[in-house]
Amino acid sequence: MRTILITGANSGIGKAAAYQFAKKGEQVIMVCRNQLHAAEVRTKIIEETNNHNIHLFICDLAIIQAVKKLVDQLTNTYEVIDVVINNAADFDISRKKVEITVEGREKQFATNVVAPYYLSRGLIPLVKKSQNGKIINISSQGLSLFPFMQLNVRDLNAQKHYRPSKQYYQNKLALLMLTDYFARTNEEDIHFYAIRVPNVKVDISRYPKLSKMAKSMYKIKSKFALSVEEMAKVYVELALSDSQYPLYINEKFKAVKINRGARNQERSKVLVSYLNSLA
Ligand SMILES: NC(=O)c1ccc[n+]([C@@H]2O[C@H](COP(=O)([O-])OP(=O)(O)OC[C@H]3O[C@@H](n4cnc5c(N)ncnc54)[C@H](OP(=O)(O)O)[C@@H]3O)[C@@H](O)[C@H]2O)c1
Repeated sequence: MRTILITGANSGIGKAAAYQFAKKGEQVIMVCRNQLHAAEVRTKIIEETNNHNIHLFICDLAIIQAVKKLVDQLTNTYEVIDVVINNAADFDISRKKVEITVEGREKQFATNVVAPYYLSRGLIPLVKKSQNGKIINISSQGLSLFPFMQLNVRDLNAQKHYRPSKQYYQNKLALLMLTDYFARTNEEDIHFYAIRVPNVKVDISRYPKLSKMAKSMYKIKSKFALSVEEMAKVYVELALSDSQYPLYINEKFKAVKINRGARNQERSKVLVSYLNSLA
């Protein structure tokens, strides 16, 4: 039995992956922010799979102090974590204006970049104890549409200019940069991967404020989309396989070229030093 942590395990691909890990008899750590909803999902997973090793930790990933508390709780509870999957993301494009957390950070950046950084950094000691420890970040195929995009390190919190979709791809670029950074700076006893997720069915009811146009766009896109279960299979196979894969893969486990912007060492240094300064 391996121990797999997955963030955002109460909906979409994360939930489907939690089910699949549970079916395979693994111990699952669900990290979610909505206690009521997540507890319901956990109960259903236990009932349907008869796997009782499904644990739930509540954490608002947009809040760095909550992430640090979570790391402490996990460190006090588990000897080893085999796989960490940074799946949760804030991609609410219906948002009209920038949202700032109580800690003064732009919410998407806090959730999509700061949280995976602190969770990964904090859990590396536990993952290192696994025989085949892995940290998996979730990227997006949409990023391929911006091959020349550079990380705007002068405005990570989007104070000068904010558009939720642009901020989302900036965040995914930063996450890819961090995957590369962790892989370069850690010994080989732990593997870092990023999965490039293609168009996967999104539950539109989660975003009631979406414009009519955005809703019809999602409706059209969903006709060509993978199901969350199909995508979750990729998470599960990568997490549990003994084979080695390239750092950045697509849903067919094929190597994907890392965006040039994610390899920019100067900007990577600025990003990491900014992230380190937050705690
Ligand atoms: N679907 C696609 O077409 C697609 C394409 C490319 C990449 N991706 C990536 O795939 C991953 C999963 O996406 P999905 O489609 O499964 O999305 P989803 O159903 O919207 O799931 C997102 C999850 O993240 C959680 N989350 C968001 N903000 C959080 C916070 N502050 N604290 C804790 N949890 C938080 C959500 O929790 P709540 O339920 O509480 O909101 C939810 O469980 C994401 O990284 C996304 O960027 C998806």
